[in-house]
Amino acid sequence: MSTYQRMDIGFESGHGAWLVDQRGERYLDALSGVAVCSLGHANPEIAGVIAKQAGRLIHTSNLYRIPLQEKLADRLTGISGLDKVFFCNSGAEANETAIKICRKYAHHKQVEDPVIVVMNGSFHGRTMSTLSATGNPAIQAGFSPLLAGFRHVPYDDINALDKLDDVRKRIVAVMLEPIQGEGGVVVPTPGYLQALREICNQNGWLLALDEVQTGMCRTGAWFAYQHENILPDVVTLAKSLGNGLPIGACLASEAVAEIMVPGSHGSTFGGNPLASAAALAVIESMSRQKLAGRAGELGTIMLKRFGDELGRLDKVVEIRGKGLMIGIELAGDCTELVGQALKQRLLINVAAKRVVRLLPPLIISDDEMNQIVDTVCLLIKSL
Ligand SMILES: Cc1ncc(COP(=O)(O)O)c(C=O)c1O
Repeated sequence: MSTYQRMDIGFESGHGAWLVDQRGERYLDALSGVAVCSLGHANPEIAGVIAKQAGRLIHTSNLYRIPLQEKLADRLTGISGLDKVFFCNSGAEANETAIKICRKYAHHKQVEDPVIVVMNGSFHGRTMSTLSATGNPAIQAGFSPLLAGFRHVPYDDINALDKLDDVRKRIVAVMLEPIQGEGGVVVPTPGYLQALREICNQNGWLLALDEVQTGMCRTGAWFAYQHENILPDVVTLAKSLGNGLPIGACLASEAVAEIMVPGSHGSTFGGNPLASAAALAVIESMSRQKLAGRAGELGTIMLKRFGDELGRLDKVVEIRGKGLMIGIELAGDCTELVGQALKQRLLINVAAKRVVRLLPPLIISDDEMNQIVDTVCLLIKSL
């Protein structure tokens, strides 16, 4: 189906931060398949683990214990501070799980018609519940009736939560991205997540964070909430968890997870031996290479370089980001930059029509980082 506006280019192989097209041309990838291939393309360690596991056992079923899934859950709870994990296959499914958990928690508390507070400008996926939670009318257009039970408020506006008196008794959770990705790399004011945590505590609401794009070292920590020293109740992951092998996860604290019982939720493929082996290898590799720290350092350097080179241009509204999640907001529509970058053999993305979005692999070298900055600066200057 024509669900994608595809560029007329196809890649046949890759290595590290580079992709090779069908004619043998090399491209520097500053997008990582939209925050997926953080360890680079055709990573030999991950490819080796996948090949070995595929030769041993790909799939059994969640009817049986899956030792690799249990090991992965241990690793994820260890790095996140949460207690339990449900495995699925994508970001949207991870968020579906989070939404179901919030609703079940509400019913457990005798709230029969629960409301989840979500954010304008957010993106949570394309299934019916996640697109209903998404704060972007363009993504919802044509799919009504939307799922009820979501209330959208402005992002990064803590006072917005004071203005919900009509639904206050029904609110069960606040769900948001710690940094909005598709919305244009919107980084909230420092202290915002802490303030939200506080409000959720005072009201007995759950705090559910969508870390599908920000998670797994992308912003300079395993998870973006760790920059603010808070612990959410629910966290969703996908994208780089498998470095390209599909896997999603919904993590929760014990008190919340215990309401999910046999029959509450399920997934045929979720956390199968192959996906679990790949994700375990990803965590091992990120941890050994200390990629959270590296992403943080590279991000600081890139923001400084972009600031020095572009900060004073009238057409540049704001340069922002955290770690290797960087957005350069321009004064007008800049979608044409994607095609212009492609001609320079660089893969970038434009979010929300006017924000150049960079999500390079976390394993880029200093030279590759500088090459990305040089090319992006040239492109923006000549716009
Ligand atoms: C923050 C966030 N949540 C959810 C999703 C949906 O993930 P998926 O496409 O794997 O369903 C995305 C994808 O871009 C995302 O950025």
